[in-house]
Amino acid sequence: MTVCKNIKKLIFKINKAKTNHNSIGFIPTMGALHKGHLSLIQKARKENDVVVVSIFVNPKQFNNPEDLKRYPRTIERDVDLIRDIADIIFIPDTEEIYPKGFGANIHISPLADVGEGKYRPGHFDGMATVVLKLFHITQPTRAYFGKKDYQQYLIVKQMVRDLHLPIKIVGGETMREESGLAMSSRNVRLSHSDKEKALIIYQTLQQGKEIIQQGEQNAQNVIKKMTDITEREEGITIEYIEIRNMSDFLETDEITEDVVILIAAQIGEVRLIDNIEVHLS
Ligand code: PAJ
Repeated sequence: MTVCKNIKKLIFKINKAKTNHNSIGFIPTMGALHKGHLSLIQKARKENDVVVVSIFVNPKQFNNPEDLKRYPRTIERDVDLIRDIADIIFIPDTEEIYPKGFGANIHISPLADVGEGKYRPGHFDGMATVVLKLFHITQPTRAYFGKKDYQQYLIVKQMVRDLHLPIKIVGGETMREESGLAMSSRNVRLSHSDKEKALIIYQTLQQGKEIIQQGEQNAQNVIKKMTDITEREEGITIEYIEIRNMSDFLETDEITEDVVILIAAQIGEVRLIDNIEVHLS
């Protein structure tokens, strides 16, 4: 296992792997690793010769400076955790990724403008910009993204398609704690009682799924019933509940095809997102 902080050193390693015709699996992360990240890394391990993990808390994708400041950073623990499953860990500092004068900005339309994009202006541009840069550096055969960040996964897929990047984007299922709470690096910022409150997010998603599968086709009715559930829980503010077609990610009035229900919620100072896929047959 090699730890690289420097882009040149990493490219040297990657080029060596490429000359040996090794496939490269890449998992970009912001660290504070948990089982969600590990599931992606393990998947990549099975499918590639060389596994590269990046750990970089990307300032460009934080629309809230306080969130950036408080984002958990546990580098030594992270490296220990993946030492045996990753071949290369890339841990650049901010200047390495964004040297003075850096001016590129990637905007993927219209996906980056809706949903999370509306509530976190600039977030997806910052994400796409760093992911594209990391793709150019690591030149992966396959790159792995969790469906926990559903819209991010779709945006990266579109970017790869629109820009003809020779990379296969592989999606991973959302890993949850036994309670149902989706694993997230931000969960460590939740107190015990906040964690209890957060359970309502997945419970409500499951309820929404059940309501649709029982035959409710009117999206607003589903959202209303879900809102009734969340309003009973104190100390959690639901930012949005949206129902979008899985095929085109458009918001739907009438549910006639497979959809994804998405929730964003605020508990204290922590903002959490989660989603559930609903297949009609
Ligand atoms: P981060 O939040 O660290 O997530 C890294 C990857 O792990 C993403 O693909 C995310 O969807 C996935 N992931 C997070 N929680 C998961 C869970 N509970 N189950 C399965 N997968 C999960 O997402 C980012 O970092 C950044 O935006 C990044 C892509 C690294 C660009 O900066």
